[in-house]
Amino acid sequence: MITRSVSKIDFTTSFDYINEFVSCGFSVICRICGPENSAKNIKSLGRTGMASVVVVGTQWGDEGKGKIVDLLTRYADYIVRFQGGNNAGHTLVVDGKQYIFHLIPSGILYQDKVCMIGNGVIVDPGVLLREIAALKEQGLSLSPDRLMISEKAHLIMPYHESLDKAKEASMAKKIGTTGRGIGPCYMDKVGRMGIKAGDLLDEELFREKLQAAVEEKNFTITQRYKGTPVQFEEIYRAFQVYAEKLIPFIGNVSVELDTARKAGRNILFEGAQGTQLDIDHGTYPFVTSSNTIAGNACNGTGFGPAYIDSVIGIMKAYTTRVGEGPFPTELTDEVGEQLQTKGHEFGATTGRKRRCGWLDGVVAADAVRLNGLTGLALTKLDVLSGQPVLKMANAYQINGKVISTMPSNIRQAAAVMPIYEDLAGWQKDISEVRQFADLPREAQDYIRRIEDFTGVEAAIVSVGPDRNETLLLRNPFIKE
Ligand code: GDP
Ligand code: IMO
Ligand code: MG
Repeated sequence: MITRSVSKIDFTTSFDYINEFVSCGFSVICRICGPENSAKNIKSLGRTGMASVVVVGTQWGDEGKGKIVDLLTRYADYIVRFQGGNNAGHTLVVDGKQYIFHLIPSGILYQDKVCMIGNGVIVDPGVLLREIAALKEQGLSLSPDRLMISEKAHLIMPYHESLDKAKEASMAKKIGTTGRGIGPCYMDKVGRMGIKAGDLLDEELFREKLQAAVEEKNFTITQRYKGTPVQFEEIYRAFQVYAEKLIPFIGNVSVELDTARKAGRNILFEGAQGTQLDIDHGTYPFVTSSNTIAGNACNGTGFGPAYIDSVIGIMKAYTTRVGEGPFPTELTDEVGEQLQTKGHEFGATTGRKRRCGWLDGVVAADAVRLNGLTGLALTKLDVLSGQPVLKMANAYQINGKVISTMPSNIRQAAAVMPIYEDLAGWQKDISEVRQFADLPREAQDYIRRIEDFTGVEAAIVSVGPDRNETLLLRNPFIKE
């Protein structure tokens, strides 16, 4: 046995430092913990007791979920998407190389982990196969033992995309959807006429369902939107090819996760979009068509709620929104421009410029309540460097009243005026910082104020897009 002596083990240590312990494979004896406790403590920095962790966006999406999921995948065995579809665009940067995933869970870069697409996700088979092919080109081949698609996940069909685009084009007040067929696909699911991934295994059933759907959709496409009808044979043939490729990946995600849980595996649930885009709790109708909040990690995978141990809310240090809809702290001045430029705020799916604004404490407090957050991952803190003063909305004002939650009435949500508190900014570039104590005092105070306001501790602080540009303050896979 090789023994090596180290002087300090501390959860505020940089992520790299922790990695070094976990991956070196040496037996480490800590001078502070002593020989008996070292093994236990060091184990808890890497492989942990079994836990299930949900990661969700707290704002209007694009908070940096992909980066944080990739980071936490190190401690997980299974990584599971539970809602949304390829409207999501999750960016990972590893050693300077960028990857963007729309459907495949962000844990896929680790060769020894299993990724799953739960029943709550809607799957465009063409997009999924292209993602699998792109990974293969990069030397990451994906066999069915590394990716499972729920047999109950609904399929996005070509007519869903046509209908999404036709509807948006016809609306005077647009939602600004991603045009990926999300709304129409979820409409068919709840309307009980959707086609599920598992239907690909039964050619007769698939043909029957497709025939009925094409007939109905063509009526709407041609009569309502004066568009070009879709062709049954064309779709049927394309889906025969998809079926052949995808069938090996289709399975029962709920059963697989239950087996994993009983075997003591760590499970990481990856949310898409953000809390204010939730179909029930967001700024409706300027939302997506699924429940984005943490509770749906259970519905969207077939996993029992009592088995969830922690919920991490990803919170950008400022706010962005892509698409239409209320955005109380939006900045249309040069500060907004600066955040947009410095934060490279362009949609990872559609390339649209993201609207930018100050951090919104009302949105944050809604996220804490709706998701039951147990920890925060504060991202893009580096983008705020150089701002002389930072602002955070701690309430809204409307019709002479002060309110502390987002109004459900959309006209009120659009009319609220944020009440701001000022916080001191910092000038120093913080992208090289890896320990909390090395952050400028003002940056520490900004984080502490967010923690105080939300009542939730920061577990992670992110200071750059790369996996390593991170401060892991508390590992959510460790049960307290
Ligand atoms: P997601 O949809 O929540 O996964 O977020 P996106 O990938 O759509 O957008 C987040 C963007 O911010 C991506 O380009 C990330 O590479 C980038 N990013 C993530 N964390 C940080 C950070 O701490 N600092 C900076 N500068 N960029 C970050
Ligand atoms: P990730 O997972 C940001 C927005 C769209 C539009 C609204 C409805 O990358 O954070 P949809 O196509 O879902 O019907 O569009 O929701 N939207 C997102 N905004 N990030 C996303 O995903 C989004 N997914 C959908 O811009 O306003
Ligand atoms: Mg995104």
